[in-house]
Amino acid sequence: MFKYFEKIKNDSNESFFCEIEKLSKVEFAKKNGNKPKWEQCLKDLANVEKSTLIQKQEYLFVDKEVQKQAFENLRPWRKGPYSFKNFNLDSEWNGFIKWQRIEKHLNFTNKTVLDVGCGNGYFAFLMGLKNAKFVLGLEPFLLFNYQFKAIQSLTNNTQNIAIAPLKLEQIPDCKAFDIVFSMGVLYHAKSPIEHILKLKQMLTTGGELVLETLIVEGTCGYSLTPTDRYAKMRNVWFIPSEKTLISWLKRCGFASVEVIDDSITSFEEQRKTSWIGDDSQSLEDFVEGEKTIEGYPRPRRLMLLCRVS
Ligand SMILES: C[S@@+](CC[C@H](N)C(=O)[O-])C[C@H]1O[C@@H](n2cnc3c(N)ncnc32)[C@H](O)[C@@H]1O
Repeated sequence: MFKYFEKIKNDSNESFFCEIEKLSKVEFAKKNGNKPKWEQCLKDLANVEKSTLIQKQEYLFVDKEVQKQAFENLRPWRKGPYSFKNFNLDSEWNGFIKWQRIEKHLNFTNKTVLDVGCGNGYFAFLMGLKNAKFVLGLEPFLLFNYQFKAIQSLTNNTQNIAIAPLKLEQIPDCKAFDIVFSMGVLYHAKSPIEHILKLKQMLTTGGELVLETLIVEGTCGYSLTPTDRYAKMRNVWFIPSEKTLISWLKRCGFASVEVIDDSITSFEEQRKTSWIGDDSQSLEDFVEGEKTIEGYPRPRRLMLLCRVS
């Protein structure tokens, strides 16, 4: 990761990338009992000759035989799927379904991209393959950073992609990004307005924001705050109606807000697989018919393409 920063630090916004590097080092240095196991996985993969990462149907594919055990030790694999010469890594989410909703609306060529809440970088890799200049992902959950490192370590065409183990609110403001993504993060924010304003702070003039979040039916102004969990998820704070979400974005200064997708999450997109690990529950355990097990409307996600002017 730091090799990559060396490269882009020579570009504009040098102090921003130096700060990201500094903050990342602090996070990686924090105690975590799983780190030796995760570091071992990277060591186990270190002798594999690097190969080109390609997209092959829904998979991100590396044409090499790799130690399956190393990847099993990095479970749960929420995001993907990935594939190698000797096995398919079918993650809980089939991310390619979401990617197909996104890619037709954007041109990534030579663009600078920030992916907030990027998981293990599945979408960041795809953006890199679409010729983005560079992609910076933010992902506070350390395991997903190790998953990213594991995949990246096998490849020779992903050096323009990096992930930092940071939350959006930890990074300095910097109008460095042509495209900013926040997918599946807004409902985790205690202050959705501050989240949106911060996303806007990261955009270049004329930049584009792709925002994806859970929504519910309701009038303008309505938003659901679950009393506790939502579809078994902790830390869900605000699930607005479509009209409320659009009004938040307009109040925050986005002049153009276009709905590019509106989907009920299916069992095909979020599925139970062996790659989730010991806690193998998934969406099918969290919904009953049209309701979540807590009695709320079942997950429906809206994707918006927003521009400042
Ligand atoms: C539901 S997942 C979505 C992952 C991916 N963006 C996608 O659409 O499939 C949300 C991710 O955002 C991360 N996250 C939560 N709060 C965040 C924050 N404040 N800043 C950056 N990432 C955050 C979580 O750790 C988690 O991996």
